[in-house]
Amino acid sequence: MTEQDFILKSYNTNIENGSVKWSSPSNIALVKYWGKKEHQIPENPSISFTLSDCKTITEVTYTKKESKDFSFDVYFEGEKNEAFKPKIQTFFERIETYMPFLRDYHFKIDTSNTFPHSSGIASSASGMSAIALCLMSIEQELTNTVTSSAVEKSDFNQKASFIARLGSGSACRSIEGELVVWGQNESTESSDLYGVKFEGEVHSNFKNYQDTILLVDKGEKQVSSTVGHKLMYGHPFAKERFAQAHENLAKLKTILASGDLNAFVKIVESEALTLHAMMMTSMPYFILMKPNTLEIINKIWKFREENNSNVCFTLDAGANVHVLYPESEKETVLNFIKKELTKYCQNEHYICDQIGLGANLIRL
Ligand code: DP6
Repeated sequence: MTEQDFILKSYNTNIENGSVKWSSPSNIALVKYWGKKEHQIPENPSISFTLSDCKTITEVTYTKKESKDFSFDVYFEGEKNEAFKPKIQTFFERIETYMPFLRDYHFKIDTSNTFPHSSGIASSASGMSAIALCLMSIEQELTNTVTSSAVEKSDFNQKASFIARLGSGSACRSIEGELVVWGQNESTESSDLYGVKFEGEVHSNFKNYQDTILLVDKGEKQVSSTVGHKLMYGHPFAKERFAQAHENLAKLKTILASGDLNAFVKIVESEALTLHAMMMTSMPYFILMKPNTLEIINKIWKFREENNSNVCFTLDAGANVHVLYPESEKETVLNFIKKELTKYCQNEHYICDQIGLGANLIRL
């Protein structure tokens, strides 16, 4: 597959208007994407758990228009939102080659999240994948195609992921579940252009894997991911880091098959700390962890040691902590979180989630 294969060649604009609605989840990377080339091509492969309950729900209403400019309005939780517009404008500019009908219609994008606004949870993965899926359904309407066979569904998901990637890299891993790989590598089926469902063997230890997100800091990040990715250009450790991601993905593939939780914990925590180490060693350097992030990490290590547990943590580009653990430890770990960790969260706020199956069409 190349970029050219995703260009929509013909469509009709007989349809005056319509609306579609999708829900799409967030995802949490186990091997992290940090560093990209032009056109949202990742410098290294990544793999993530798709989440189940942290989702964006987006409805896109389209109405035919005469002018050929992009025209869209964004509503967030029912209110008109101007702040999101520049990001969507950039997104439209990046994808118009593949979806030329974007200039034929006015779009009303109505979006909301299941997780609280300003929770510090990155909503770009769920948000951009939800819009991408709505646009894909509109494309289908305009080309009078349906996705009934497995092949058609897989083609649909592939282009949806390709389009989502152009909105936000990690968004391409939110279309399907339960594990998705993005970025060419030697160990798994993969592509730089879109996320691919991980088809390797997955041990039952990872079934319904739990992710409790501890909201340490709900504020705006000092440095956005987009800026952070750029700082990997000329980064003194970039080459080693990109090579390490390949190695970690290969190791993780074996671990997912064997169910070796001990080894899983090591890779996942090392990936999280390496991501933040890259931030601390870029120029300019920055730190996104907060004192409470470190308090939580230390408490998790102590609990794991003392209780022979497999609980571990991972981090996104922010201060919040994702606490990952097998379903079999749900009760004990949740008790530990409530007793010892929530005090480090802003307003004691945390969100319980688990591995999920991917996006859902709500309405055509
Ligand atoms: C640390 O996907 O948010 O969460 O492509 O610039 O939108 P853009 O970046 P984004 O980066 C996410 C980075 C990460 C790691 C990961 O999800 O793999």
